[in-house]
This record gives sequence, structure tokens and C-alpha cells, in this order.
Amino acid sequence: MNGGAGLPCWGILGGLALSTVAAVVTPLTHGAIEGGILLAIAWAWGIGQLRAGRLRTALLQESVVQLTETVDRWAAGDLEARVYLDQEDPLDSLAHGMNRVAEVLMERTRDLGQDKERLETILSSMANGIIIFSHSLAVTLINQAAIRLFEIQAPSPQGRNVLEMIRDTGLTDALEAVTGQGITVTTDWSPAENDSVVVECTIAPLYQPMGGPGAVLVARDVSSQRQVNRLRQDFVANVSHELQTPLTVIKGFTETLLDDPDFERQPRFLELINEEANRMSRLVDDLLALSRLEHHSLPVRWQAVDLTVLVEGTVTKLNGRAEAQGLVLNNRLPARLPAVWGDPDLLSELLINLIANAIQYTASGGRVTLDSLADPAGEMVAIRVTDTGIGIPQSDLARIFERFYRVDRARSRASGGTGLGLAIVKHIIELHHGRIEVKSAVGQGSEFTVWLSTRERREA
Ligand SMILES: Nc1ncnc2c1ncn2[C@@H]1O[C@H](COP(=O)(O)OP(=O)(O)O)[C@@H](O)[C@H]1O
Ligand SMILES: [Mg+2]
Repeated sequence: MNGGAGLPCWGILGGLALSTVAAVVTPLTHGAIEGGILLAIAWAWGIGQLRAGRLRTALLQESVVQLTETVDRWAAGDLEARVYLDQEDPLDSLAHGMNRVAEVLMERTRDLGQDKERLETILSSMANGIIIFSHSLAVTLINQAAIRLFEIQAPSPQGRNVLEMIRDTGLTDALEAVTGQGITVTTDWSPAENDSVVVECTIAPLYQPMGGPGAVLVARDVSSQRQVNRLRQDFVANVSHELQTPLTVIKGFTETLLDDPDFERQPRFLELINEEANRMSRLVDDLLALSRLEHHSLPVRWQAVDLTVLVEGTVTKLNGRAEAQGLVLNNRLPARLPAVWGDPDLLSELLINLIANAIQYTASGGRVTLDSLADPAGEMVAIRVTDTGIGIPQSDLARIFERFYRVDRARSRASGGTGLGLAIVKHIIELHHGRIEVKSAVGQGSEFTVWLSTRERREA
């Protein structure tokens, strides 16, 4: 700046020097007085110019200080700072330009802030987890869903290495493959000691302006989807197995009879074939009933159902079976009970399954009792089936309503069970918005209580 401000001074001095030379030369041609006057005017003008120059330099310095201070405030983040100079100031147009730049910068910063906020809102409201990793596998961005899915405890995961937070070598290997080879990898992650939770991670390379490629990980909770798949696979395997056993028996006996039509034990073999065919038929019936209930494809005939009448009918149907097994079937239902809302056929099927089980799992000499309960508000009525049978271990109680679950497979099979009865019962109760309670003690007996609503409802 100093060099620049000094230039006008040298110009003025140069001018004075020239005018002095002129003043010295002029008397030689015009006379001494004119020369003296000329010299005085030149010097007076020169000194005036010097003074004005110094003043301008001081003003300029002042403006430059103002401009510098404003730039410093911007650098410190105060983009609201502006610089205003005198209109005459040669730096005024520069100040205007700088103020305009500050306006534009403020607008851009505001836009960027809004974009960032929008991105953060989207990321935090996403159900999928998102993590962005640098090339060295440090976390540069992570959303709430990812923190929840990976059960991350670290208070500020940003900047940490993946292994510090998600201690899983499988995931780290996948991330290294992505950043190293530039490929996309999909892998599953489960918390240690809990493989019922499955998080599906898709990891893709992310090219960044600096450093090697990083990675972006998208995590999705697929636990229930996987569970459904597993249940479906189990179900297909179970059905195949249940059908295969009677089919093998039928096939074996039929081949024997075909080989020797005069086989002396033919009647017994035919009986066994018939038994196995009946077992298959029962299984298919139960499967169809279950499928209709699960897919709600069954027309429900909602009406007020008299439980006393329904239970009497069921007891009549099953009395023979109880007697044949040396059991007493005791109906203690009162003559009149508040009607419940439901489908009489479905409720009858429910009762048949519960009473048949009580008979099936009670040894000769035992007793099966039916009675009822009512809640004080009169909104629910319960039918209770109690037996003095083999009972159910506590550890199995939670599972007996699962399809094909049996405490003792051989015993269930020997007495013609399909393993689907209680699954059907559960669905019928759900359809009726009721509930079932089970109490049991091994060797003493079981008690199944079904609560049904007396309130009218029409929907399926
Ligand atoms: N009253 C009961 N007493 C003892 N065990 C029972 C009783 N009811 C059900 N269970 C147990 O629950 C299992 C499932 O019952 P269910 O679904 O009706 O199938 P199953 O065709 O084997 O009877 C039975 O195999 C049996 O182990
Ligand atoms: Mg059964």
C-alpha cells in the first residue's frame, strides 16, 4: 500500500523540479520578475497538491482498515457484517461489491442449512438404518434407526471405527470387501446371542472427493419376514412328514396284498390301510379348516348362540368315545346361560377339539367335567373343560397352540391326533375376539377355559 500511496508524491515533486528548471530558464528569455512569479505559483500549487495527497492517503488507509475488519468478521462467521464508505471514496465500489458477495454467501449458506435440515429429517424418520463410512471405516454419518437396529451404546458414534461399535467381524469383512474391491455386498447381522433378530445390510461403495472409496450401509430389520419364511418351511416339512407316514404304511400293505391276493391276514391289513387313510383324511380336513380360518375365507354366520344347547350336542356326540375309554363325561352347565355371539358351527368345532383332547389325554377311570363361568359385568361367558388326565408340563404350555406341536408325538399319533386341534381352537377364539386360559399339572390334569363375548358383532 505504501508504495502505491507514494507515487503521487513523486509525481508532484517531479512537477516542482520541472517548474523550477522552467523558472530558471524563463528569465533568460522573459525577465526575472515573470520567472519569480512563475516559480512561486508552481511551488504554491505543488505544496497544496502534496497536502491533499497526504489527506487522501489517510482516508484510503481508513477505508482499507474498514474493509479488512469486515472481511475478518465474515471469516469469523458473521455474514451480517457490511462495509459502508463515503460515496467519494475510490474504494466505495469495492465495498459495494463486497457487500453483494456477502448477501449471496448468506443466501447460499441458508440454502445449504435448509438442505442439511431436510436431509437430517429424512434420515431420522427413515425406518431403515443408514451409515456412511470413510475409507478407513470410520463412521461419518449415522441415523437413529441404525443406532437402534445395531443396539449402539456409544454416546457419539460419529468418527468411531465400525469395530468399536458393532463388534462383528462378518460385517467388517463385508465393509472391507466393498471399500477394497468396489463391489456391493448384502449380508445379515444378528446381535450376539439373539439370532431371532435379523438385520439385512446392503453395503455399496461410495466414491468421495478425497481419500479412497468409502461405503454406504443400508440396514433393514427382516426378523419377522425371516420368521414367517421359517414357519412356512417348517409347516411344509411337517405336512410332508405327516402325510408320508400313513402313505408309507398304505403303500407297504397294498404291495403285500398285491403280491399275494390270498394272504391270510388280508382283513387285518385292509383294516390298517383304512385306518391310515382315515388319518390322512382327518389331517387334510384339519389343514383345510386351518387354512380357511387363517385366510378368513370362511363365511361366519354370526348369531346369538345358546352355549347350554351347544355343549349338550357336543357331549352327546362324544359320550360314546368317553365311555369306550372308561371315562365319565360330566356336564355341569346350568340350564340357562347368557347367549354369546358367534358362529355355532365354529364354536361346536372348538368344543369338540377341547373335549376330544380331554378324553384323549385322560386314562381310564378318569373324569372330564364341563362347567361355565360368567364375569360380573355380564359381558363374557366362559366354558371350562377340566380333566383328570396326564397334564401338560409348564415348559410346553406356551407352545401347545402351535401347528403340529405335541408334548408326546407317539401318544398323540396313537390316539389319532393330527397336532392341529389346538391351532384350530386358537384361530376360532381369535375370530370371536375371545380368549383362552390353560392351567395344568403333570399327572393331575388340565383345565382349558374359553371366554366368549355376549356383545353383538357382525363383522367377519
Ligand atoms: N387335555 C389335555 N391334556 C394333556 N395334554 C393335552 C391336552 N390337550 C392338549 N394337550 C397336548 O397338546 C398337544 C396339542 O394338542 P392338539 O393340537 O389338539 O393336537 P393333538 O392332535 O396331538 O391332540 C397334544 O399333543 C398334547 O400333547
Ligand atoms: Mg387334539
